[in-house]
Amino acid sequence: MAAGAISLSPIQSIALPKKLKYTTNRLLRLAHITDIHLSSANDAPNRFRKCLSEIKDHDVDFFLNGGDTIMAADYSHITRESVIEQWNIWDQVRKEFDTYKMYSCLGNHDMWWAAPNKDDEMYGKDYVIKKLGMPNRYYSFSQKGWYFIILDSNNKNAGSLDEEQRTWLENELDRIPNNASVLVMSHYPILGVSTIPYGGSHTDSAYITKLFYEHSYKKIHCISGHMHLLDSATYNNVNYFCNGSLSGFWWGEGNKDSAKKYWYHETPPGYAIIDLFEDGSITNTYYPHSF
Ligand SMILES: [Fe+2]
Repeated sequence: MAAGAISLSPIQSIALPKKLKYTTNRLLRLAHITDIHLSSANDAPNRFRKCLSEIKDHDVDFFLNGGDTIMAADYSHITRESVIEQWNIWDQVRKEFDTYKMYSCLGNHDMWWAAPNKDDEMYGKDYVIKKLGMPNRYYSFSQKGWYFIILDSNNKNAGSLDEEQRTWLENELDRIPNNASVLVMSHYPILGVSTIPYGGSHTDSAYITKLFYEHSYKKIHCISGHMHLLDSATYNNVNYFCNGSLSGFWWGEGNKDSAKKYWYHETPPGYAIIDLFEDGSITNTYYPHSF
């Protein structure tokens, strides 16, 4: 490794609930990739391919994709051709790891709002939901006794949950058994540290953290992206991991605030490997990549 590469060591945020840390039977290993921002620029597809081959070595059970899958469809000047091109690149690369199941959430840059009208098949969230094979803009599933809740942060005053989704989340948490282990994925951080200097938090953190507090017997952990910054926070026994970004400085070399080439501020591009244990504990390890 090159001199100075020590900063590329994995960064682990272990979160083992105190009372439960003696039973450590691992049930699942996941890759959390977020903010891939794929386009043809900066050789991003090939650099992403190199990341994927590294991730595969971790022997993960499935992928969680935190949103901002394509570079950007949301700006008003983005054309249909550009949106199609970006998603075509995604389709090609996705084929190369389609033996893995992937659960995605919507990022703020994924939606094309500049479509000529709302009935256009490429307008807004439904098209992205289709491209990513999601059952809905928010949804849940369970595996090996763990419950997974995938949220749609892209609402008025983003990040936030709309009324419909609040009701759904409340019912969902009521439905899940009291001592259950839960992993929640959103694009915007529900609660974070990097959001203090830079903004970008869910604006309804108070509502969501209060709701989680009403379910204190559950072991709840949250993961997010959006910031391209790595942080972790714990509040009321709930862990919040913001897992940097796969694209770093959107695959670019960076700017005056980048601590190193390709980094966004002090965070290198990377991905997280998450281990989920039988006792409801979790380890979240961020692997910087140098592609
Ligand atoms: Fe992003």
